[in-house]
Amino acid sequence: MKKLINSLINTNWYSEPVSRVERCKKMGQNGVTLWFTGLSGAGKSTLAFSLDHRLLEAGKKSYVLDGDLLRDGLNSNLGFSAADREENIRRVGEVSLLAADAGLIVLSCFISPFRKDRRRVRELHQRNGIPFVEVYMDTSLELCEKRDSKQLYYRARRGEIDDFTGISSPYEVPENPEIIVRSTQSPVEAAEIVYAYLQKKGLVE
Ligand code: ADX
Repeated sequence: MKKLINSLINTNWYSEPVSRVERCKKMGQNGVTLWFTGLSGAGKSTLAFSLDHRLLEAGKKSYVLDGDLLRDGLNSNLGFSAADREENIRRVGEVSLLAADAGLIVLSCFISPFRKDRRRVRELHQRNGIPFVEVYMDTSLELCEKRDSKQLYYRARRGEIDDFTGISSPYEVPENPEIIVRSTQSPVEAAEIVYAYLQKKGLVE
């Protein structure tokens, strides 16, 4: 045992960082960030959960990061002004990068209404050699407002919530998303479309 430890110390391999290639090989997959953007109630998290199940069934390791959840903890000191959203997206972009670097298929669901903030997250991934796939949930304001599962649109219309996306704060539609999901597609159908895209691009087997 002592001999083994000594030889490990001498070869020094244990103190080197695990390379991304090595990690991905052992994990049997590559890390990637899927970035779901769209209005509140557009179906981002529902699709991500459906895809998460689909990936799990296929033996893949994925994880959902969701705006409501992250704002409850890591970002509990942030509100919805443009500056706070910028900081929210900067932080969750960094978290997504780290999780994808760890080899996970990261399903990030944030309204992320501003193009410049989304572009920054994309560039962060590009700089670090991690694939980034932007998925735009093209669900109209009318439909989101009709669904209104959290009664937030109702309250925003009554002036009870400031800076509400789509009502009193803008949403900038993505110009070149990799994938556009229509509201006519069910979460299961949409999950299949995203999964097929990942396979086509060689991001999952
Ligand atoms: S983002 O704009 O900074 O990307 P994020 O995705 O983290 O937003 O959080 C959005 C969630 O916060 C919504 O789904 C909704 O439940 C809640 N929320 C509370 N206030 C607002 C608001 N003013 N605008 C948008 N969403 C809000």
